[in-house]
Amino acid sequence: MKDYEKRMRKLEKKLSRREKRTKSMEDLKISEGVFDRSTLFILYWFVNKGIFETLHGIISTGKEANVYWATDERGKEYAVKIYKSATSEFKKTMWMYIYGDPRFKSVKKTMRALIVAWAEKEYKNLRRAYEAGVRVPKPIAVRGNVLVMEFIGKDGVPAPIMRESPPENPERVFNILLEYVKRLYKFANLVHGDLSEYNVLLWNENPVLIDMAQSVVLNHPLSQEFLMRDLKNLLKYFKNLGVNVPVLEEAYKYVTGE
Ligand SMILES: Nc1ncnc2c1ncn2[C@@H]1O[C@H](COP(=O)(O)OP(=O)(O)OP(=O)(O)O)[C@@H](O)[C@H]1O
Ligand SMILES: [Mg+2]
Repeated sequence: MKDYEKRMRKLEKKLSRREKRTKSMEDLKISEGVFDRSTLFILYWFVNKGIFETLHGIISTGKEANVYWATDERGKEYAVKIYKSATSEFKKTMWMYIYGDPRFKSVKKTMRALIVAWAEKEYKNLRRAYEAGVRVPKPIAVRGNVLVMEFIGKDGVPAPIMRESPPENPERVFNILLEYVKRLYKFANLVHGDLSEYNVLLWNENPVLIDMAQSVVLNHPLSQEFLMRDLKNLLKYFKNLGVNVPVLEEAYKYVTGE
């Protein structure tokens, strides 16, 4: 008898879970108009896998991607970055970054293939950065043009970008960021490639690097140029905040060890 009750309870739980999933799929359908068919299909796939349960509001609309807030069954929060089919301008830039990266030698040149490679590239870059001990959103999963990662923020409110809310102790944050650039270089073999106050979130006064689709491996022909540009941006921003920053050559030496 007890056994039977147990089994019933288990089944009930399972069913209610399934119901919840169906419900959040219906929620998704409401915003169906927003997504193309293949994106919608991928979102359903994530929901079915239980990676997230509900896709809530949009956090950011960009030229290339939109970022959404999502939660799973337990209320754990995620950021879901959905790449849109690209403008021709974006296509040109994308190609420059993917070309020359040995990890993406065999990417077809169709628009869809390029976008998928771009999302995958961001996932892989985040993974490498994460493993190298650089504070980035932990990558969770990628499929097609959709990337799921750790949500930086709380209760649906994302951490502010550094540009919007400068650090209280800029010197400390500068030192951490320079250390991250070095770790990226030394341990992840990567250059961020678009580092600036726009792509750093500040969470409890700690910097988190985001937006790594364009990050390149060190043997990319433009990696040193990108590193110089990243460092220039950092030095300029923190100099303006009154930090006694090193000159570019010195920062470059610190990062590369050369
Ligand atoms: N993991 C995350 N947690 C919280 N917020 C995030 C996360 N990832 C991105 N965001 C928010 O979404 C915005 C855009 O993200 P990101 O910079 O990765 O995309 P983008 O393609 O560069 O978009 P844009 O063209 O707007 O710069 C960020 O500025 C940040 O506000
Ligand atoms: Mg950005």
